[in-house]
Amino acid sequence: MALQQKGMHGAWVSRWTFIMAATGSAVGLGNMWKFPYVAGSNGGGAFVLVYLACILFIGVPVMMAEVMLGRHGRKSPVNAMRDIVSESSANLRWSYLGWLGVVAAVLILSFYAVIAGWALSYIIEMGSGVLKGVDGDAAAVAFNQLLNNPAKLVFWQTVFLTLCVAVVMGGVKKGLGVAVETLMPILFFILFGLLVFSFFRGNFSAAVDFLFSFNLDQLTSRSVLEAMGQAFFTLSIGMAAIMAYGAYMPQKASIGKTILIVAFFDSAVAIISGLVIFSIVFATQGIEPGAGPGLMFISLPVAFGSMPGGLLIGAIFFILVSIAAWSSAISLLEPCVAWLVETKNMDRFQANMIFAVIAWILGLGTVFSFNIWSGYQLFGFTFFDFLDFLTANIMLPVSGLLIALFVGYVVDKKIIASEMLGMHPKVQLLWQYSLRYLAPFAIGAVFIMGLYDRFS
Ligand code: PFF
Repeated sequence: MALQQKGMHGAWVSRWTFIMAATGSAVGLGNMWKFPYVAGSNGGGAFVLVYLACILFIGVPVMMAEVMLGRHGRKSPVNAMRDIVSESSANLRWSYLGWLGVVAAVLILSFYAVIAGWALSYIIEMGSGVLKGVDGDAAAVAFNQLLNNPAKLVFWQTVFLTLCVAVVMGGVKKGLGVAVETLMPILFFILFGLLVFSFFRGNFSAAVDFLFSFNLDQLTSRSVLEAMGQAFFTLSIGMAAIMAYGAYMPQKASIGKTILIVAFFDSAVAIISGLVIFSIVFATQGIEPGAGPGLMFISLPVAFGSMPGGLLIGAIFFILVSIAAWSSAISLLEPCVAWLVETKNMDRFQANMIFAVIAWILGLGTVFSFNIWSGYQLFGFTFFDFLDFLTANIMLPVSGLLIALFVGYVVDKKIIASEMLGMHPKVQLLWQYSLRYLAPFAIGAVFIMGLYDRFS
Protein backbone atom coordinates (compact mmCIF):
# COMPACT_ATOMS: atom_id res chain seq x y z
CA MET A 1 0.00 0.00 0.00
CA ALA A 2 2.80 2.35 0.94
CA LEU A 3 4.31 1.70 -2.48
CA GLN A 4 0.97 2.33 -4.16
CA GLN A 5 0.70 5.68 -2.34
CA LYS A 6 4.24 6.77 -3.09
CA GLY A 7 5.62 4.83 -6.03
CA MET A 8 9.26 3.79 -6.41
CA HIS A 9 10.58 7.28 -7.22
CA GLY A 10 9.34 8.88 -3.98
CA ALA A 11 7.02 11.87 -3.76
CA TRP A 12 7.06 15.67 -3.41
CA VAL A 13 7.44 16.64 0.23
CA SER A 14 4.24 18.68 0.11
CA ARG A 15 1.48 19.97 -2.11
CA TRP A 16 3.38 23.23 -2.28
CA THR A 17 6.38 21.50 -3.84
CA PHE A 18 4.08 20.00 -6.47
CA ILE A 19 2.68 23.47 -7.16
CA MET A 20 6.20 24.86 -7.58
CA ALA A 21 7.24 21.93 -9.79
CA ALA A 22 4.17 22.13 -12.02
CA THR A 23 4.47 25.92 -12.20
CA GLY A 24 8.15 25.47 -13.05
CA SER A 25 7.19 23.14 -15.87
CA ALA A 26 4.47 25.44 -17.14
CA VAL A 27 6.39 28.71 -16.91
CA GLY A 28 9.08 28.66 -19.57
CA LEU A 29 10.09 29.93 -22.96
CA GLY A 30 6.40 29.66 -23.86
CA ASN A 31 5.53 32.45 -21.41
CA MET A 32 8.51 34.72 -21.84
CA TRP A 33 9.62 34.27 -25.42
CA LYS A 34 6.53 33.04 -27.25
CA PHE A 35 3.55 34.60 -25.47
CA PRO A 36 4.62 38.25 -25.87
CA TYR A 37 5.44 37.92 -29.56
CA VAL A 38 2.39 35.81 -30.40
CA ALA A 39 0.17 38.27 -28.51
CA GLY A 40 2.03 41.11 -30.23
CA SER A 41 1.52 39.76 -33.70
CA ASN A 42 -2.14 38.96 -33.04
CA GLY A 43 -3.07 42.47 -31.99
CA GLY A 44 -2.75 42.22 -28.19
CA GLY A 45 -5.84 42.44 -25.96
CA ALA A 46 -8.42 40.32 -27.77
CA PHE A 47 -5.89 37.54 -28.17
CA VAL A 48 -5.09 37.65 -24.46
CA LEU A 49 -8.76 37.28 -23.58
CA VAL A 50 -9.22 34.21 -25.78
CA TYR A 51 -5.95 32.76 -24.48
CA LEU A 52 -7.12 33.09 -20.87
CA ALA A 53 -10.51 31.53 -21.74
CA CYS A 54 -8.73 28.58 -23.40
CA ILE A 55 -6.58 28.09 -20.31
CA LEU A 56 -9.57 28.12 -17.95
CA PHE A 57 -12.15 26.13 -19.89
CA ILE A 58 -10.02 23.67 -21.83
CA GLY A 59 -6.46 23.71 -20.52
CA VAL A 60 -7.30 23.36 -16.81
CA PRO A 61 -9.74 20.43 -17.23
CA VAL A 62 -7.30 18.50 -19.45
CA MET A 63 -4.42 19.25 -17.10
CA MET A 64 -6.48 17.95 -14.17
CA ALA A 65 -7.19 14.77 -16.13
CA GLU A 66 -3.50 14.30 -16.84
CA VAL A 67 -2.46 14.81 -13.23
CA MET A 68 -5.21 12.43 -12.11
CA LEU A 69 -3.90 9.69 -14.40
CA GLY A 70 -0.37 10.20 -13.13
CA ARG A 71 -1.35 10.22 -9.48
CA HIS A 72 -3.47 7.13 -9.78
CA GLY A 73 -0.75 5.25 -11.65
CA ARG A 74 2.11 6.40 -9.37
CA LYS A 75 4.55 5.45 -12.13
CA SER A 76 6.11 6.92 -15.23
CA PRO A 77 3.47 7.87 -17.84
CA VAL A 78 4.12 4.78 -19.98
CA ASN A 79 3.58 2.36 -17.10
CA ALA A 80 0.87 4.41 -15.37
CA MET A 81 -1.21 4.40 -18.54
CA ARG A 82 -0.75 0.67 -18.97
CA ASP A 83 -1.97 0.00 -15.40
CA ILE A 84 -4.98 2.30 -15.67
CA VAL A 85 -5.97 0.83 -19.02
CA SER A 86 -5.98 -2.67 -17.58
CA GLU A 87 -7.74 -1.54 -14.37
CA SER A 88 -10.45 0.05 -16.52
CA SER A 89 -10.60 -3.05 -18.78
CA ALA A 90 -10.10 -0.72 -21.73
CA ASN A 91 -8.62 -1.40 -25.15
CA LEU A 92 -4.84 -1.79 -24.80
CA ARG A 93 -4.25 0.76 -27.54
CA TRP A 94 -5.07 3.51 -25.05
CA SER A 95 -1.79 2.78 -23.33
CA TYR A 96 0.10 4.15 -26.36
CA LEU A 97 -0.90 7.55 -24.99
CA GLY A 98 1.93 7.27 -22.46
CA TRP A 99 4.37 6.62 -25.28
CA LEU A 100 3.07 9.49 -27.34
CA GLY A 101 3.81 11.80 -24.42
CA VAL A 102 7.31 10.47 -23.88
CA VAL A 103 8.27 10.71 -27.56
CA ALA A 104 6.91 14.27 -27.68
CA ALA A 105 8.88 15.12 -24.53
CA VAL A 106 12.19 14.00 -26.06
CA LEU A 107 11.52 15.84 -29.31
CA ILE A 108 10.60 19.04 -27.48
CA LEU A 109 13.58 18.77 -25.14
CA SER A 110 15.86 18.52 -28.18
CA PHE A 111 14.91 21.92 -29.60
CA TYR A 112 14.02 23.55 -26.28
CA ALA A 113 17.64 23.06 -25.15
CA VAL A 114 18.93 24.90 -28.22
CA ILE A 115 16.63 27.91 -27.75
CA ALA A 116 17.33 27.97 -24.01
CA GLY A 117 21.00 28.04 -25.03
CA TRP A 118 20.35 31.35 -26.82
CA ALA A 119 19.05 32.80 -23.57
CA LEU A 120 22.12 31.53 -21.68
CA SER A 121 24.45 33.08 -24.23
CA TYR A 122 22.57 36.39 -24.03
CA ILE A 123 23.32 36.61 -20.31
CA ILE A 124 26.96 36.96 -21.33
CA GLU A 125 26.24 39.16 -24.39
CA MET A 126 24.30 41.58 -22.23
CA GLY A 127 26.60 41.48 -19.25
CA SER A 128 29.75 41.98 -21.34
CA GLY A 129 28.50 45.30 -22.69
CA VAL A 130 28.94 44.49 -26.40
CA LEU A 131 25.32 45.40 -27.07
CA LYS A 132 25.58 48.86 -25.53
CA GLY A 133 23.74 51.41 -27.64
CA VAL A 134 23.05 49.00 -30.54
CA ASP A 135 20.38 49.89 -33.06
CA GLY A 136 17.94 47.39 -34.60
CA ASP A 137 20.27 46.44 -37.46
CA ALA A 138 23.27 45.89 -35.22
CA ALA A 139 21.18 43.82 -32.80
CA ALA A 140 19.93 41.69 -35.71
CA VAL A 141 23.51 41.20 -36.90
CA ALA A 142 24.56 40.10 -33.40
CA PHE A 143 21.68 37.62 -33.20
CA ASN A 144 22.43 36.24 -36.68
CA GLN A 145 26.07 35.86 -35.76
CA LEU A 146 24.99 33.59 -32.93
CA LEU A 147 22.67 31.58 -35.19
CA ASN A 148 25.40 31.21 -37.81
CA ASN A 149 27.86 29.78 -35.35
CA PRO A 150 27.04 26.05 -34.84
CA ALA A 151 29.92 25.52 -32.40
CA LYS A 152 28.62 28.26 -30.13
CA LEU A 153 25.05 26.96 -30.33
CA VAL A 154 26.19 23.43 -29.53
CA PHE A 155 28.27 24.72 -26.63
CA TRP A 156 25.27 26.44 -25.01
CA GLN A 157 22.93 23.56 -25.81
CA THR A 158 25.38 21.23 -24.02
CA VAL A 159 25.64 23.54 -21.01
CA PHE A 160 21.86 23.66 -20.77
CA LEU A 161 21.37 19.89 -21.02
CA THR A 162 24.10 19.36 -18.41
CA LEU A 163 22.23 21.65 -16.04
CA CYS A 164 19.07 19.57 -16.60
CA VAL A 165 20.85 16.27 -15.99
CA ALA A 166 22.40 17.66 -12.81
CA VAL A 167 18.93 18.27 -11.39
CA VAL A 168 17.04 15.20 -12.61
CA MET A 169 19.86 12.89 -11.50
CA GLY A 170 19.18 13.85 -7.88
CA GLY A 171 15.71 12.26 -7.94
CA VAL A 172 12.31 13.61 -7.03
CA LYS A 173 13.05 14.95 -3.55
CA LYS A 174 16.69 16.00 -3.61
CA GLY A 175 16.94 16.86 -7.29
CA LEU A 176 13.70 18.16 -8.76
CA GLY A 177 12.13 19.12 -5.42
CA VAL A 178 15.10 21.14 -4.18
CA ALA A 179 15.61 22.74 -7.61
CA VAL A 180 12.06 23.99 -7.99
CA GLU A 181 11.86 25.18 -4.40
CA THR A 182 15.01 27.22 -4.96
CA LEU A 183 14.48 28.35 -8.56
CA MET A 184 10.84 29.38 -8.47
CA PRO A 185 11.14 31.96 -5.67
CA ILE A 186 14.19 33.42 -7.49
CA LEU A 187 12.16 33.54 -10.70
CA PHE A 188 9.26 35.34 -9.03
CA PHE A 189 11.62 37.72 -7.28
CA ILE A 190 13.41 38.70 -10.51
CA LEU A 191 10.13 39.00 -12.38
CA PHE A 192 8.73 41.29 -9.72
CA GLY A 193 11.90 43.39 -9.78
CA LEU A 194 11.65 43.74 -13.56
CA LEU A 195 7.99 44.68 -13.25
CA VAL A 196 8.92 47.49 -10.88
CA PHE A 197 11.74 48.56 -13.21
CA SER A 198 9.48 48.61 -16.26
CA PHE A 199 6.81 50.49 -14.32
CA PHE A 200 9.19 53.33 -13.53
CA ARG A 201 11.49 53.26 -16.54
CA GLY A 202 9.38 51.82 -19.35
CA ASN A 203 6.21 52.96 -21.05
CA PHE A 204 3.97 50.97 -18.72
CA SER A 205 0.66 52.52 -19.68
CA ALA A 206 1.21 51.76 -23.37
CA ALA A 207 1.94 48.15 -22.43
CA VAL A 208 -1.24 47.91 -20.33
CA ASP A 209 -3.24 49.42 -23.20
CA PHE A 210 -1.74 47.01 -25.65
CA LEU A 211 -2.38 43.88 -23.59
CA PHE A 212 -5.77 44.79 -22.15
CA SER A 213 -7.68 46.78 -24.74
CA PHE A 214 -10.04 44.04 -25.78
CA ASN A 215 -10.64 45.04 -29.33
CA LEU A 216 -12.62 42.10 -30.65
CA ASP A 217 -12.40 43.35 -34.25
CA GLN A 218 -8.81 42.24 -34.36
CA LEU A 219 -9.66 38.67 -33.56
CA THR A 220 -9.37 36.29 -36.50
CA SER A 221 -10.02 32.55 -36.57
CA ARG A 222 -6.31 32.04 -36.92
CA SER A 223 -5.57 33.96 -33.73
CA VAL A 224 -8.12 31.83 -31.88
CA LEU A 225 -6.19 28.77 -33.02
CA GLU A 226 -2.92 30.29 -31.96
CA ALA A 227 -4.36 31.18 -28.56
CA MET A 228 -5.48 27.61 -27.99
CA GLY A 229 -2.16 26.09 -29.09
CA GLN A 230 -0.33 28.53 -26.86
CA ALA A 231 -2.58 27.66 -23.90
CA PHE A 232 -1.71 23.97 -24.30
CA PHE A 233 2.00 24.50 -24.78
CA THR A 234 2.28 26.85 -21.83
CA LEU A 235 0.47 24.50 -19.45
CA SER A 236 2.79 21.64 -20.57
CA ILE A 237 -0.24 19.52 -21.42
CA GLY A 238 -0.07 16.30 -23.43
CA MET A 239 3.62 15.71 -23.13
CA ALA A 240 3.89 13.34 -20.20
CA ALA A 241 5.57 15.97 -18.04
CA ILE A 242 2.53 16.85 -15.97
CA MET A 243 1.47 13.21 -15.75
CA ALA A 244 4.91 12.30 -14.40
CA TYR A 245 4.79 15.11 -11.84
CA GLY A 246 1.27 14.04 -10.86
CA ALA A 247 2.67 10.63 -9.92
CA TYR A 248 4.61 12.27 -7.10
CA MET A 249 1.70 14.35 -5.79
CA PRO A 250 0.47 13.78 -2.23
CA GLN A 251 -2.69 11.65 -2.19
CA LYS A 252 -4.63 14.09 0.00
CA ALA A 253 -4.11 17.18 -2.16
CA SER A 254 -7.09 18.39 -4.19
CA ILE A 255 -6.22 18.14 -7.88
CA GLY A 256 -8.75 20.78 -8.98
CA LYS A 257 -7.65 23.49 -6.56
CA THR A 258 -3.98 22.74 -7.07
CA ILE A 259 -4.17 22.93 -10.85
CA LEU A 260 -6.15 26.18 -10.68
CA ILE A 261 -3.31 27.68 -8.64
CA VAL A 262 -0.74 26.46 -11.18
CA ALA A 263 -2.77 27.86 -14.09
CA PHE A 264 -3.11 31.17 -12.24
CA PHE A 265 0.66 31.44 -11.69
CA ASP A 266 1.35 30.47 -15.28
CA SER A 267 -1.04 33.05 -16.72
CA ALA A 268 0.21 35.70 -14.30
CA VAL A 269 3.80 35.11 -15.39
CA ALA A 270 2.84 35.32 -19.07
CA ILE A 271 1.00 38.59 -18.54
CA ILE A 272 3.68 40.12 -16.31
CA SER A 273 6.36 39.11 -18.85
CA GLY A 274 4.25 40.73 -21.55
CA LEU A 275 3.95 43.92 -19.48
CA VAL A 276 7.69 44.01 -18.81
CA ILE A 277 8.66 43.37 -22.42
CA PHE A 278 6.17 45.77 -24.00
CA SER A 279 6.86 48.58 -21.48
CA ILE A 280 10.50 48.35 -22.48
CA VAL A 281 9.78 48.01 -26.19
CA PHE A 282 7.32 50.94 -26.20
CA ALA A 283 9.80 53.11 -24.33
CA THR A 284 12.18 52.83 -27.29
CA GLN A 285 11.43 54.59 -30.55
CA GLY A 286 11.00 52.57 -33.69
CA ILE A 287 10.50 49.09 -32.26
CA GLU A 288 7.45 47.16 -33.39
CA PRO A 289 5.45 45.12 -30.85
CA GLY A 290 4.68 42.58 -33.56
CA ALA A 291 8.34 41.92 -34.28
CA GLY A 292 7.86 38.14 -34.08
CA PRO A 293 10.33 35.62 -32.64
CA GLY A 294 13.11 38.21 -32.72
CA LEU A 295 11.24 40.34 -30.15
CA MET A 296 13.27 38.97 -27.28
CA PHE A 297 16.65 38.58 -28.96
CA ILE A 298 16.67 41.63 -31.25
CA SER A 299 14.20 44.25 -30.04
CA LEU A 300 14.84 43.84 -26.35
CA PRO A 301 18.63 44.21 -26.60
CA VAL A 302 18.09 47.46 -28.53
CA ALA A 303 15.76 48.68 -25.82
CA PHE A 304 17.98 47.58 -22.93
CA GLY A 305 21.10 48.83 -24.70
CA SER A 306 19.71 52.33 -24.89
CA MET A 307 18.71 52.65 -21.23
CA PRO A 308 21.03 53.77 -18.46
CA GLY A 309 21.87 50.61 -16.49
CA GLY A 310 19.85 48.69 -19.05
CA LEU A 311 22.54 46.15 -19.86
CA LEU A 312 22.68 44.89 -16.29
CA ILE A 313 18.89 44.67 -16.23
CA GLY A 314 19.08 42.90 -19.59
CA ALA A 315 21.51 40.31 -18.21
CA ILE A 316 19.17 39.76 -15.26
CA PHE A 317 16.27 39.41 -17.68
CA PHE A 318 18.06 36.61 -19.56
CA ILE A 319 18.92 34.90 -16.26
CA LEU A 320 15.18 34.89 -15.60
CA VAL A 321 14.43 33.37 -18.99
CA SER A 322 17.11 30.72 -18.50
CA ILE A 323 15.74 29.75 -15.09
CA ALA A 324 12.24 29.47 -16.54
CA ALA A 325 13.51 27.28 -19.40
CA TRP A 326 15.54 25.13 -16.99
CA SER A 327 12.62 24.41 -14.67
CA SER A 328 10.53 23.42 -17.73
CA ALA A 329 13.12 21.24 -19.40
CA ILE A 330 13.66 19.10 -16.30
CA SER A 331 9.98 18.15 -16.49
CA LEU A 332 10.58 16.85 -20.01
CA LEU A 333 13.50 14.69 -18.92
CA GLU A 334 11.87 13.21 -15.82
CA PRO A 335 9.14 11.06 -17.50
CA CYS A 336 11.75 9.44 -19.74
CA VAL A 337 14.19 8.83 -16.90
CA ALA A 338 11.47 7.45 -14.62
CA TRP A 339 10.46 4.97 -17.31
CA LEU A 340 14.02 3.64 -17.79
CA VAL A 341 14.54 3.37 -14.03
CA GLU A 342 11.30 1.41 -13.66
CA THR A 343 11.59 -0.93 -16.58
CA LYS A 344 15.31 -1.41 -17.12
CA ASN A 345 16.38 -1.19 -13.53
CA MET A 346 18.87 1.52 -14.42
CA ASP A 347 20.22 4.08 -12.01
CA ARG A 348 19.19 7.67 -12.51
CA PHE A 349 22.56 8.77 -13.80
CA GLN A 350 22.61 6.22 -16.63
CA ALA A 351 18.98 6.90 -17.51
CA ASN A 352 19.65 10.65 -17.62
CA MET A 353 22.70 10.24 -19.78
CA ILE A 354 20.85 8.10 -22.30
CA PHE A 355 18.03 10.60 -22.81
CA ALA A 356 20.25 13.67 -22.62
CA VAL A 357 22.47 12.20 -25.35
CA ILE A 358 19.42 11.37 -27.51
CA ALA A 359 18.08 14.91 -27.04
CA TRP A 360 21.56 16.35 -27.72
CA ILE A 361 21.97 14.43 -30.99
CA LEU A 362 18.47 15.32 -32.16
CA GLY A 363 19.16 18.90 -31.09
CA LEU A 364 22.02 19.07 -33.58
CA GLY A 365 19.32 19.04 -36.27
CA THR A 366 17.85 22.19 -34.72
CA VAL A 367 21.29 23.79 -34.39
CA PHE A 368 22.06 23.13 -38.06
CA SER A 369 18.68 24.35 -39.28
CA PHE A 370 19.82 27.88 -38.48
CA ASN A 371 23.04 27.58 -40.47
CA ILE A 372 24.49 24.72 -42.54
CA TRP A 373 21.14 22.99 -43.10
CA SER A 374 19.05 26.13 -43.49
CA GLY A 375 18.61 25.33 -47.19
CA TYR A 376 17.31 21.79 -46.59
CA GLN A 377 13.59 21.29 -46.24
CA LEU A 378 11.49 18.49 -44.78
CA PHE A 379 7.86 18.77 -46.00
CA GLY A 380 8.55 22.44 -46.62
CA PHE A 381 10.03 23.04 -43.15
CA THR A 382 13.52 23.37 -41.79
CA PHE A 383 14.34 20.62 -39.31
CA PHE A 384 13.59 22.92 -36.36
CA ASP A 385 10.31 24.19 -37.81
CA PHE A 386 9.35 20.62 -38.58
CA LEU A 387 9.89 19.50 -34.98
CA ASP A 388 8.09 22.54 -33.65
CA PHE A 389 5.15 21.92 -35.97
CA LEU A 390 5.07 18.16 -35.35
CA THR A 391 5.05 18.52 -31.58
CA ALA A 392 3.01 21.69 -31.00
CA ASN A 393 0.50 21.31 -33.82
CA ILE A 394 0.12 17.56 -34.15
CA MET A 395 1.35 15.51 -31.18
CA LEU A 396 0.17 17.93 -28.53
CA PRO A 397 -3.43 18.38 -29.70
CA VAL A 398 -3.78 14.67 -30.49
CA SER A 399 -2.48 13.72 -27.08
CA GLY A 400 -4.64 16.36 -25.30
CA LEU A 401 -7.71 15.21 -27.21
CA LEU A 402 -7.09 11.55 -26.38
CA ILE A 403 -6.53 12.34 -22.70
CA ALA A 404 -9.86 14.21 -22.60
CA LEU A 405 -11.69 11.33 -24.28
CA PHE A 406 -9.95 8.67 -22.21
CA VAL A 407 -10.80 10.28 -18.87
CA GLY A 408 -14.18 11.53 -20.10
CA TYR A 409 -15.46 8.21 -21.43
CA VAL A 410 -13.15 5.27 -20.75
CA VAL A 411 -11.50 5.39 -17.32
CA ASP A 412 -13.29 3.39 -14.64
CA LYS A 413 -15.59 5.73 -12.70
CA LYS A 414 -14.31 4.31 -9.42
CA ILE A 415 -10.81 5.55 -10.23
CA ILE A 416 -12.13 9.02 -10.92
CA ALA A 417 -14.23 9.01 -7.75
CA SER A 418 -11.25 7.98 -5.61
CA GLU A 419 -8.91 10.60 -7.09
CA MET A 420 -11.43 13.43 -7.13
CA LEU A 421 -12.71 12.83 -3.63
CA GLY A 422 -14.00 16.03 -2.05
CA MET A 423 -14.56 17.87 -5.33
CA HIS A 424 -17.88 19.69 -5.35
CA PRO A 425 -20.37 17.63 -7.44
CA LYS A 426 -21.24 20.64 -9.59
CA VAL A 427 -17.59 21.37 -10.30
CA GLN A 428 -17.06 17.71 -11.12
CA LEU A 429 -19.96 17.86 -13.55
CA LEU A 430 -18.44 20.90 -15.26
CA TRP A 431 -15.09 19.14 -15.45
CA GLN A 432 -16.66 16.05 -17.01
CA TYR A 433 -18.61 18.23 -19.42
CA SER A 434 -15.44 19.90 -20.61
CA LEU A 435 -13.62 16.57 -21.03
CA ARG A 436 -16.47 14.90 -22.87
CA TYR A 437 -17.68 17.68 -25.14
CA LEU A 438 -15.99 21.07 -24.97
CA ALA A 439 -12.33 20.00 -25.02
CA PRO A 440 -12.67 17.31 -27.74
CA PHE A 441 -14.64 19.66 -29.94
CA ALA A 442 -12.35 22.65 -29.42
CA ILE A 443 -9.13 20.66 -29.73
CA GLY A 444 -10.44 18.78 -32.75
CA ALA A 445 -11.38 22.05 -34.43
CA VAL A 446 -7.96 23.55 -33.67
CA PHE A 447 -6.24 20.49 -35.01
CA ILE A 448 -8.16 20.32 -38.27
CA MET A 449 -8.16 24.05 -38.92
CA GLY A 450 -4.48 24.26 -37.99
CA LEU A 451 -3.58 21.59 -40.53
CA TYR A 452 -5.85 23.13 -43.15
CA ASP A 453 -4.35 26.55 -42.52
CA ARG A 454 -0.83 25.21 -42.88
CA PHE A 455 -1.23 23.09 -45.96
CA SER A 456 -3.95 24.89 -47.93
N1 PFF B 1 5.32 24.94 -20.69
C1 PFF B 1 6.64 25.21 -21.19
C2 PFF B 1 6.71 26.63 -21.70
O1 PFF B 1 5.70 27.34 -21.69
O2 PFF B 1 7.78 27.03 -22.11
C3 PFF B 1 7.06 24.29 -22.27
C4 PFF B 1 6.86 22.86 -21.97
C5 PFF B 1 7.47 22.26 -20.88
C6 PFF B 1 6.02 22.15 -22.74
C7 PFF B 1 7.23 20.97 -20.56
C8 PFF B 1 5.77 20.85 -22.43
C9 PFF B 1 6.36 20.28 -21.34
F1 PFF B 1 6.11 19.03 -21.08
